[in-house]
Amino acid sequence: MIVNSPTSYYVLPSVIALGLGLSDVVEAITRPAVNARSQTSYTPVAFAIGTAPIIDSLQPLSENAVILSPSAPVLTLDYGANVAGFPYFDVTSLAGPAAQIELKYSEQFEGLNLKTGDGPWLYALGLMNSFRTETFNITTAGTTESFFIQGGQRWQTVTLLSNTSVTIASVGFKASVDIEPLDNLVGKFSSSSDVYDGLWGLGARAVQASCVEANSQPSTWEISNDGALIRGQYPGVSAKGTNYGDYTMSFSTKITRGGSGWRVAAGPNGGYGAYFVLTSDGPQLLSTDTSIVPPNSVIAGYGFSIVNFYLSSAPPLYYSNPFPISENEWYRVSTTITSSGYNISVNGTQFAFVPYTTFLPYVNAGFGGTNLITTGSWGFGPFMDQAAYVKDVEVVEQDGTVLYTNPLTSTDILQEYLVASNSYAVCLDGAKRDREIWIGDFVHTARELAASTGRYDFIQSMIEFEFLGQFTSGPAAGIVPIQDSMGSGPQFQSVYYPSQYSETDYQLFFLLTLGDYFALTSDTALLSKYWSGTKLLVEAMVNTYLEPSTGLLANSSAFWFTAQGYQNAAAPTALFAIALKQLAIVAKALDDTITASHYTTLYTNLSKAINTQLWNPSSGFYATALNDLSETSILANAFTIRALIANTTQATTAIQSLSTLFYLIGYKDSTAIGNSPTTQLSPNVQGFLLESLFIAYKQLNVTSDIVLPVLKNLLDVYWPKMLNQNEYYTGCSWEYVYANGSPGIGIFTSLCHPWGGAPTYVLTDYMLGVRRELMETGEYGWVFDPVLELAQGLGLTWVNGTVPLQGGGWIEAGWKIEGGSVTSNLEVVGALGVDVVNKIPSQV
Ligand SMILES: *[C@@H]1O[C@H](CO)[C@@H](O)[C@H](O)[C@H]1NC(C)=O
Ligand SMILES: *[C@@H]1O[C@H](CO)[C@@H](O)[C@H](O)[C@H]1NC(C)=O
Ligand SMILES: *[C@@H]1O[C@H](CO)[C@@H](O)[C@H](O)[C@H]1NC(C)=O
Ligand SMILES: *[C@@H]1O[C@H](CO)[C@@H](O)[C@H](O)[C@H]1NC(C)=O
Ligand SMILES: *[C@@H]1O[C@H](CO)[C@@H](O)[C@H](O)[C@H]1NC(C)=O
Ligand SMILES: *[C@@H]1O[C@H](CO)[C@@H](O)[C@H](O)[C@H]1NC(C)=O
Ligand SMILES: *[C@@H]1O[C@H](CO)[C@@H](O)[C@H](O)[C@H]1NC(C)=O
Ligand SMILES: *[C@@H]1O[C@H](CO)[C@@H](O)[C@H](O)[C@H]1NC(C)=O
Ligand SMILES: *[C@@H]1O[C@H](CO)[C@@H](O)[C@H](O)[C@H]1NC(C)=O
Repeated sequence: MIVNSPTSYYVLPSVIALGLGLSDVVEAITRPAVNARSQTSYTPVAFAIGTAPIIDSLQPLSENAVILSPSAPVLTLDYGANVAGFPYFDVTSLAGPAAQIELKYSEQFEGLNLKTGDGPWLYALGLMNSFRTETFNITTAGTTESFFIQGGQRWQTVTLLSNTSVTIASVGFKASVDIEPLDNLVGKFSSSSDVYDGLWGLGARAVQASCVEANSQPSTWEISNDGALIRGQYPGVSAKGTNYGDYTMSFSTKITRGGSGWRVAAGPNGGYGAYFVLTSDGPQLLSTDTSIVPPNSVIAGYGFSIVNFYLSSAPPLYYSNPFPISENEWYRVSTTITSSGYNISVNGTQFAFVPYTTFLPYVNAGFGGTNLITTGSWGFGPFMDQAAYVKDVEVVEQDGTVLYTNPLTSTDILQEYLVASNSYAVCLDGAKRDREIWIGDFVHTARELAASTGRYDFIQSMIEFEFLGQFTSGPAAGIVPIQDSMGSGPQFQSVYYPSQYSETDYQLFFLLTLGDYFALTSDTALLSKYWSGTKLLVEAMVNTYLEPSTGLLANSSAFWFTAQGYQNAAAPTALFAIALKQLAIVAKALDDTITASHYTTLYTNLSKAINTQLWNPSSGFYATALNDLSETSILANAFTIRALIANTTQATTAIQSLSTLFYLIGYKDSTAIGNSPTTQLSPNVQGFLLESLFIAYKQLNVTSDIVLPVLKNLLDVYWPKMLNQNEYYTGCSWEYVYANGSPGIGIFTSLCHPWGGAPTYVLTDYMLGVRRELMETGEYGWVFDPVLELAQGLGLTWVNGTVPLQGGGWIEAGWKIEGGSVTSNLEVVGALGVDVVNKIPSQV
């Protein structure tokens, strides 16, 4: 029987004791109670059985078990929309001593047709399976559960690889995040447009799939008295060795399946560098590609891994083992970084001498340094479907000085190796990738949370997390982490500076989030707790990046994501101005009048610097940057509008000039980008544009005939691509979109990325019309003020919905236009003392 109920509870049979169901990995999984897995399951809604993945004519879930046989070995499962969790499946009978079953995952359907699903993700670990396929050797009937989370997928196949029929009952995921149907959320949006309702839901699902509760994503290493049992995954690299070089690193390993893997000379940006796999002479899974991982060999790679994904690695080198490596036996493996190559020995016998020559072209300064061949840290992580114990690590200099020893028998090492369970509730950039805490992405995420789930606690936790990681002294004083890993700890922050701090304007996005959070909540308690940290970050931006000669942001050490890397650019400078304008309001609320006036002056100065140098009057737009006033970009204009740096005529022509950026279905980031079907159109960037159009109309008096054509392109042409293509639909907003309407970047892309979900909060704020505004008192308050002229221009006749309040409860509102008269309702539910200023007219 396949369970077909989203609320069904799945209980593991105790005989399996949380095991993998693998005959050769019998160790029980022992995890702290706090990591106890959720009892909620996500189960498929439709299935098909055949010889290949099937997208059309799937059947609704039946109560019957399915039989996979050599003539019909592939079970396709559709979960309807992205879900996440620990995969499980139940075999009720098997027609032989063992059956090999491969699970495969993908967000978009096409990934099921690829050998590796829509992965692997060999860039960062993200506390999930680095691979999108996993093979199990099933020897008894019962339930098998994966050790690893799969972070986001709508589609799955269960494929029988061996020549033995099996009967499979329930299949699904034990939840690693809580994804509720839209009807269950505190925030709601419904309107006369099904498309807009659908768009609202994309961000609401993306934040649920991408924001994870504290300690909900367990460590991917299992610590025992025999050291760390490490299953195939992206290697975890020690934070303690990035400055060492020319050493010998030794460890003891016992392979329990397939092989063991390790790094030396690995960089601080995700561990880029040398990577080695030692394979055993044990039994092979039928899914093992022996051209990639031959048995009884050393495989030597350089870069992210021994296979390519989105980013390429050096072609691996192969060495046959001089004596067979058995499974379940201990060996001592040593790797010496010599002047010309890595010298690898096992139990004192040389197994491989790996010359640097073919690796040198892959040394990448962007991933952590130019001397990564001989300098950098060590780490551990076998390849796909392998598993091995690792213990007694020792790192010794060539003169015999011992640099590091660790038995790997204590969970204290997990943060050092970037594999600790997440101690904070955080929002990741995407459900399945990168699963890093990119603070720039969070600007949209925070607003979507407030409008949909009402999980303001995630925003608070993210603010606390960022300040915990802030540098308070030294050259980087004030700077906060921009792409932290869940598995790390704040004590190691300096190791990753500067290599994981490369997008300077992400600091500004964090300042904007602080201002946005205050605008949403007026929470002086939290903001005052971190006020000195906030001021420190502002001063870091001013002192290090404000170029005195231009008054714009520029420093050759900075990279500006919002300006394609240009210095003296409009977008980052205006972004800083928006943040300062909001933080001046916070300063006033905290009675810090000196800072309030300082920020106001800074804002004014930045505004003047932009208007006097970057406004191109003949083209009628803000230029991207000083270097070429004929180039423009979405954000140069969107951020100057939101900052209210533009006046009415400037905003009007700037919006008109966007037509030069329109290509097929949406707006390119900048005029410097060429046209091709695979030009990336960013929903992150267009999300900022979307809000700025309403601000231009409401606050800068730009007329509806100017903003409506752009709004229609965004809401009626561009974003619906995420809704109306079944093969790509995940129920979530996407990371990028190609100009032909397919997911941007390719199979690697994230199709559950909150940064692409701005319509969720923009529709709530301006179409439902319930939002927070600065009142005449100088404080923020709620208004009910739908932008009816634009709503009508977009074809809406009614909207209703609810908006979550920070302290619990919600605002319920709705409006309807019939024959020029407006009927409306407005109510505060479950909260006392919340005023909403009703600005809705009775006639239009
Ligand atoms: C699979 O099993 C069937 C029945 O035992 C046998 O006829 C067939 O040759 C086997 N095929 C392979 C590829 O082993
Ligand atoms: C699968 O299990 C069977 C039965 O225990 C065993 O003979 C076989 O070697 C195992 N295969 C792998 C790849 O582990
Ligand atoms: C390899 O060395 C380990 C000790 O590190 C020893 O226990 C094991 O027996 C050795 N194996 C072989 C095949 O020599
Ligand atoms: C590599 O290590 C072996 C011992 O395993 C040693 O005999 C050999 O001299 C080393 N080679 C180099 C180049 O260091
Ligand atoms: C530019 O940034 C570096 C640090 O990244 C800093 O040392 C330097 O002082 C800055 N330059 C100016 C002119 O502020
Ligand atoms: C703002 O600009 C004025 C005039 O250029 C300058 O005197 C002042 O120091 C600037 N203020 C700040 C806070 O940068
Ligand atoms: C808006 O700014 C432009 C460029 O500085 C200026 O020419 C124009 O007069 C301004 N318009 C208004 C209404 O202030
Ligand atoms: C927009 O129009 C309103 C009402 O006429 C006016 O008060 C306001 O100053 C105008 N804003 C701008 C930026 O021109
Ligand atoms: C919203 O309006 C629709 C259509 O009039 C109605 O079915 C629904 O109950 C309303 N929902 C709320 C929360 O008012």
